[in-house]
This record gives sequence, C-alpha cells and structure tokens, in this order.
Amino acid sequence: MNAVSSTQSAVHSGSRWTIADAMKIRTDDPTTTMPVIDYAFPVIDSDVWQWDTWLLRDIHGKTVTFKGWYVMFALVADRAATGDTTEGWHSRNNYSYIGYYYSRTGNGADWKFGGRVIKEGANSRSWEWSGCAVMRENSANTVDLFYTSVNDTPSESVPSYTTGRILADATGVWFEGFDVCTDMFQADGVNYANIVEDAYWDFRDPHIFRNPDDNQIYALFEGNVPGMRGNFTIGSDEMGPVPPATTVPAGAQYGAAAIGIARLTSDSTRGDFSKWEMLPALVTALGVNDQTERPHVVFQDGLTYLFTISHHSTFTGNSTGPDGVYGFVSRNGIFGPYAPLNGSGLVLGNPSSAPYETYSHFVDPAGYVQSFIDTLPQPGSADPQDPATYRIGGTLAPTVKIVLEGERTYLTEVHAYGQVYAQGVWPTSSAFDKRS
Ligand code: FRU
Repeated sequence: MNAVSSTQSAVHSGSRWTIADAMKIRTDDPTTTMPVIDYAFPVIDSDVWQWDTWLLRDIHGKTVTFKGWYVMFALVADRAATGDTTEGWHSRNNYSYIGYYYSRTGNGADWKFGGRVIKEGANSRSWEWSGCAVMRENSANTVDLFYTSVNDTPSESVPSYTTGRILADATGVWFEGFDVCTDMFQADGVNYANIVEDAYWDFRDPHIFRNPDDNQIYALFEGNVPGMRGNFTIGSDEMGPVPPATTVPAGAQYGAAAIGIARLTSDSTRGDFSKWEMLPALVTALGVNDQTERPHVVFQDGLTYLFTISHHSTFTGNSTGPDGVYGFVSRNGIFGPYAPLNGSGLVLGNPSSAPYETYSHFVDPAGYVQSFIDTLPQPGSADPQDPATYRIGGTLAPTVKIVLEGERTYLTEVHAYGQVYAQGVWPTSSAFDKRS
C-alpha cells in the first residue's frame, strides 16, 4: 500500500493491506500494545459470558447517554447454558444472543445486566452475532439494532436489523419492540465471497454510519475477497514493496479478508434498512490475513480512520501479528485510498506474554478503546496458552485511550475495567423528552 496521497483519485478501487505492510508489524512496541491485565480482574456479571461489546450511539458514531444512562450492548451467553467452564467459554458462539447493560456513571464497577434485547424467536436463525445500536435520527427513543443473524444448518450469516424503543427512569433502562427482524443483504459472490466460493467465508458485523462527505448512510462489514478459496494468485500488488528475492510464501493465498461496504438505498427516515447497494471492498488483505472483523470508522481532523479486529491465527503465509485491532487511514474520505496505520496496520495488539488476553477492540470517536478479556495466563506460567492455568475472561478489559495523529497511533492512557465515556446525550432536545 502506498502512503496516503491527496492527489490519488477517490474512486472505489479498494486499497490493499500488503505482505510488505505486515512485515512491519512489531509485537510489544509500547505505543501499540495492550497493558498486561491483572490476573485478579473483576467480572461485571458472572451469570453470563460477555464478549463483543458496542455502546449506544448516534448515526455519526458518537457514544450517547440516554436520559443520563450509559447503555452498552454485547454478545452474551448464559453460563448456566454453556457450563461455567473453559469448554463453556469456547462454545459460547453456539449460545450467543445480544444482551444489554446500563450504568449511571459509565464506570465498569456499576454496570447492571439488563437481559435480552431481541424478542426470543424474532431472529429466524440460530444465533445473534455482532453489530451496532443506533439512535434513530429525529426520534426521541427509537433504536435501530443491526446485528448478524447466523444459522447452523444450513450455514448462513446475514447482516440484519430490528427496531425498538429505549425507555428509562430513575431505576434503570429497558426496551420495547425488537420483535421483527429483517435481512439487510447477503454475500453476493461478486463483490464478496459466498459460501459456494469459500466454505470458511465471513460475512457479518454490520457497522452503520452517515458519511460526512456525501451524507449517505453506509454499512461496513466483514467479508472475504470473491473467488474460490485458495485459488488466488498473489502477485506484486499483494506483495507490495518487499525486500529483494522475497518469494510468495506457501499458503499466503488462503488469506482473503475484505473490509466490505454497502450503501443504503431504502428510506431510513421510515426505518427501512432493507435495501442496499453492494460496493467493492475498501481494503483487502489478499495474501496476508483471512479475517478482518467488526470494521468501524472514526472521522477526525479531516481524516478517515478505518479499524478492524484480527487474529494471530488468521494471518497466512509468513505474515504474522498479534490478536488485536488494526487500522488504515484515508485523506480522501471513506473510499480511500487507505494507508496502513503505523506503517504496518497494527494499532493495538496483545503483549507476547499474554497473547490472547483481549480481543474485539472497538475504537470510539474520542479514541477510547473497549475490548473483552479472553484468556489470561497465570503470572509466571511456562505456557501462556495452557488451559489448566489460564483464567477465562468473559468480561470487559480495562478501557484504554489511543491518540490518532495522522498515520500514527499511540496508546496514551489506561482506564478502569469496562469504563466508558460518552460524546453526546439523548434525547438531544427537550422537545424529544415530551414525546417519549
Ligand atoms: C469477533 C467475532 C465477530 C462475530 C462474533 C461472534 O469477536 O468473531 O466477527 O460477529 O465475534 O462471536
């Protein structure tokens, strides 16, 4: 990938995360590494496993409080259903539903678990996976919840939405509605691989936002490059400017991640999010990595920052990097071209002494980053991945803050476990209060 140049055209050509970019990834650089978490971390609610988390926000990305309450949504699974064990944690995807939490202070210590959001049975498929929750513009208390509707047999993964209302009083927050679920779009096999092309295809995690440049509503999502799995040719475009005599590493062609984008064509003011135009991917990782999950965007200083989470295990060929959040920056708006942040793409990775301690990092517009604790090695343990000694998380990690400075990012602050901050309040005017 070339450095960002304001003279390059902003057509939807897509940018590449290249093998040369990934060669620059450095684990344990203090500016791009999560702090080692205390083995005695607190748990928000020990009845549920909690992992991917997103805060109530507006369509522009700002986290908002509702009537003074901080509200977060998360994938959860009941520990009573999975078993409160290591095996239970690792089976959570097969029990996953969207739950919510609320807090008066935003401090992790006083989050209260509020239960299920989508009415039982409304999602026609087996599981609810990641998405986002957006206050409807010009409405006092309508929430549009975007999520991934996932099925086991037949295997399906469909970005979907459901709408409801948020209600609150002095004692807490609750929801009504969320009883009708509608598909948004499916992997088309043209812009994004479908299951016929790639049995391991990824197609999920819708992130909805209004683009400041054209005022249109878009969805980002996790996808794969279209084409038959493993049948890709890795050429000089995918290699990038590698050192002399570098050859295409074996297995590189199994990395085919894509950060997807679609444009809304139905009428959002009527709550219709059912029609979208599929557009070519913003960034592809052909030859580098097979998964770019939960893509999301931050607009700052006229720059567009695109973040995505990825795993150590999904790098391909000789490329390698820690579990964490990666990112790209564009000077020309959402369609790029994009340059990898910090030269390599790595924004925040796990330390090598605790390689799987956190995952599913989400960067808010002020640079606060939330993530969940996955498995935390016992201090001094010879094998950080030994299930006999690591501690399972299933709760939120300390929130950290990063500073975005052009093409560079820096870890600058460590906050409390599950700490959140808001950049706005809802309802936004007293007129809304009367209608709610
Ligand atoms: C990221 C992720 C998402 C998916 C969810 C399923 O942690 O893999 O891509 O929606 O978790 O649990």
